[in-house]
Amino acid sequence: MRYGLASSTWGEEERQAIIEVIDGNVYTMGKRVKGFEEKFAGYFGMKYPVMCNSGSSANLIAVASLFYKKENPLKRGDEVIVPCISWSTTFHPLHQYGLRLKFVDIDLHTLNYDINELKKAVTAGTKMIVAVSILGNPCRFDEITGICEENNIILFEDNCESMGAKFNGRYTGTFGLVNTFSTFFSHHISTMEGGVVLTDDKEIYNIIKSLRNHGWTRDQDEDSPIFERRDDDFFEAYRFILPGYNVRPGEIHGAIGTRQLDKLEYFLQIRRKNAGHFVNLFKDDERFIIQREVGESSWFSFTMIINPELNIDRKKVLQRLKDADIEHRIITGGNILRNDVIKYYDYEVTKSTNADIAHYNGFFVGNHPYDVRDKIDYLHRTLKNI
Ligand SMILES: Cc1ncc(COP(=O)(O)O)c(C=O)c1O
Repeated sequence: MRYGLASSTWGEEERQAIIEVIDGNVYTMGKRVKGFEEKFAGYFGMKYPVMCNSGSSANLIAVASLFYKKENPLKRGDEVIVPCISWSTTFHPLHQYGLRLKFVDIDLHTLNYDINELKKAVTAGTKMIVAVSILGNPCRFDEITGICEENNIILFEDNCESMGAKFNGRYTGTFGLVNTFSTFFSHHISTMEGGVVLTDDKEIYNIIKSLRNHGWTRDQDEDSPIFERRDDDFFEAYRFILPGYNVRPGEIHGAIGTRQLDKLEYFLQIRRKNAGHFVNLFKDDERFIIQREVGESSWFSFTMIINPELNIDRKKVLQRLKDADIEHRIITGGNILRNDVIKYYDYEVTKSTNADIAHYNGFFVGNHPYDVRDKIDYLHRTLKNI
């Protein structure tokens, strides 16, 4: 592949991390997962971290936790606002927990919520807004937190695509009541598979820990607010308090995560340098709409939407990329409304015009945590004279 979507960022440190785990002979949920969690929460300035086996699992247990909190829990049938464009597993847990999804259109330039459409969509029945900063680009959290505060709406942040991004100097993935991250292979740091939930709420933290781990009480805080420990070790050893899962991470993932987190700042710098080059080459190119940065993007990848006012056939553009061995994909998962899975959801749509344009006219190519400016030049040459 001359210009691929993603590349490995593992080196000698990660190899050593794996060997240490094997030598230590503890493979699941031990001190290395704990160490990674603490470091991760410290990095983002949040109180409570829960690592699990993927970003999708992070979304699942984070959504579930909101059904079991004591005050004002979510209930089946509640209305949740979501953007039309995000990854499938942003939406699936919401559906699986019986929520009613209200889809709101995106802004064609930022690819995040169209804020005016979001404001129009809010009703007295809206219980939660799911904010997704798409492909590294922060949402307008000033507007979104304002809407949530005014209307007593829970903010859920799916930050799986935007680790390290900042809005008004504050990291994305720290604005929500619950916030999720992915450490899958192609993401800003990689544990190959992995995810994290961050929250500042002790009750939710303990609920999420139980949901990660069979719904049991084993790793609850001493002063956990979600149950009372009894005086009988026999029954306490296997005591189940919530309908949970097993979405635990392995020790290898925790050990690698710690090494990767040491490199995140450096990875982000390089990603941003590549992005500067991409933006310079394409910003005045009227054939393409490229993603407009809000705050400080962590530039997961480079999106290009063929200007809908011009008569350019995307098929031809994609064929050109294919012939040139440049890997590309539909933007995030495309417009979820255009995927077959939608028939299972309970949902309504306020508007999806821009999401459709992104779906039918857009694509993205990879950014990497190493210098790919020559590959971006190659992309630029490849798209010449189209
Ligand atoms: C917005 C969003 N949410 C959730 C996920 C799921 O993460 P994972 O692949 O780690 O399950 C992804 C994956 O890329 C994503 O982009």
